[in-house]
Amino acid sequence: MKILAIESSCDETAAAVVQEGVILSSVVATQMKVHAEYGGVVPELAAREHLSNVLPVVNQALSDAGMSAKDLDWIAATQGPGLPPALMVGYQAAQHMAFALGMPLLGVQHHEAHLYSPWIHSEEARLETEAFEPHISLVVSGGHTMLVWVRAPMDHGVVGATIDDAAGECFDKTAKMIGLPYPGGPVMDRLAAEGDPKAIDFPRPMLKDSGLDFSFSGLKTAVRYHLEKHPERLQSPDSLKDVCASVQAAITDVLVAKTLRAAQKHAVGMITVSGGVACNRGLRAALGQACERQGLRLRVAQPIYCTDNAAMVGTLATWRIRLGATPTPREEGIRAGWMLDEKA
Ligand code: KG4
Ligand code: ZN
Repeated sequence: MKILAIESSCDETAAAVVQEGVILSSVVATQMKVHAEYGGVVPELAAREHLSNVLPVVNQALSDAGMSAKDLDWIAATQGPGLPPALMVGYQAAQHMAFALGMPLLGVQHHEAHLYSPWIHSEEARLETEAFEPHISLVVSGGHTMLVWVRAPMDHGVVGATIDDAAGECFDKTAKMIGLPYPGGPVMDRLAAEGDPKAIDFPRPMLKDSGLDFSFSGLKTAVRYHLEKHPERLQSPDSLKDVCASVQAAITDVLVAKTLRAAQKHAVGMITVSGGVACNRGLRAALGQACERQGLRLRVAQPIYCTDNAAMVGTLATWRIRLGATPTPREEGIRAGWMLDEKA
């Protein structure tokens, strides 16, 4: 079974070819530079970029896999959630290809693709379903932060989520206050590595709360007030690094504590992590140590499959098709507000 997968929910145009769970190719065209001058993603510009990139990216993915379109068996694409103008471009390309080639189409939920991305085995770029066990998954990205209890493959439910901003958004917005370029998360990660995480005691929102939800907007405000009061913090490279390390520590402390609490509450022996923020080295290290202390197994998505990509769309489609997924009607449109708890 050979699947062509397409992803265009935000600012990456991506295509991949996945054959029997092995990623034969994965191409990502990022629009970061286009949006950087606006400090965030502009949906209209994203759609235009997707439109010029989608066919070259699909052609590249096919050529890297040594295939032509008629060798494929299925077309899969992100159907939601995401920015409607952006989603529409990739999804429509998939609809048209499926129609022209007479192939089945599978619409994929974006968070679900992140959720199962840690199962891509890093060395072989292969979907490793045989190692599956019930787990708690932290899906942490620019648009979403949630804890999901995965009882069996494709049997999962959200047990905690942010009530306001996503963790990635908190990284990006505080980075902007510090004067770092967009997207701020990766830059903060780099600077934080050389700073003191205990330099400033920023709040750990909802850490003491016994539930599994998150809130990051208050932390953002606390950073703003702190910098207004102490503008000197940004004047030397060393104290700027301390600010980055302290913000990162506040975010990761909450993410780690709630993820471990969810694992305990639902009595699972494994944690998985995915989404752009899962690239963060501070978070990866803190989770690694916490899981080791608690005797939990940890599977973190490989960095190239953390940020938006189509390989995760193709691997999820493989898994779903193996479990008997029926094709998505070709005339069905995008589902921009599609939540993870809603069935496909
Ligand atoms: O998964 P993703 O590519 O897109 C969404 O679905 O949102 O995640 C992008 C987010 C951005 O907020 C970016 O700043 C954050 O992931 N991110 C990071 C790192 N790499 C990406 N945040 C912290 N540390 C990183 N190393
Ligand atoms: Zn994403």
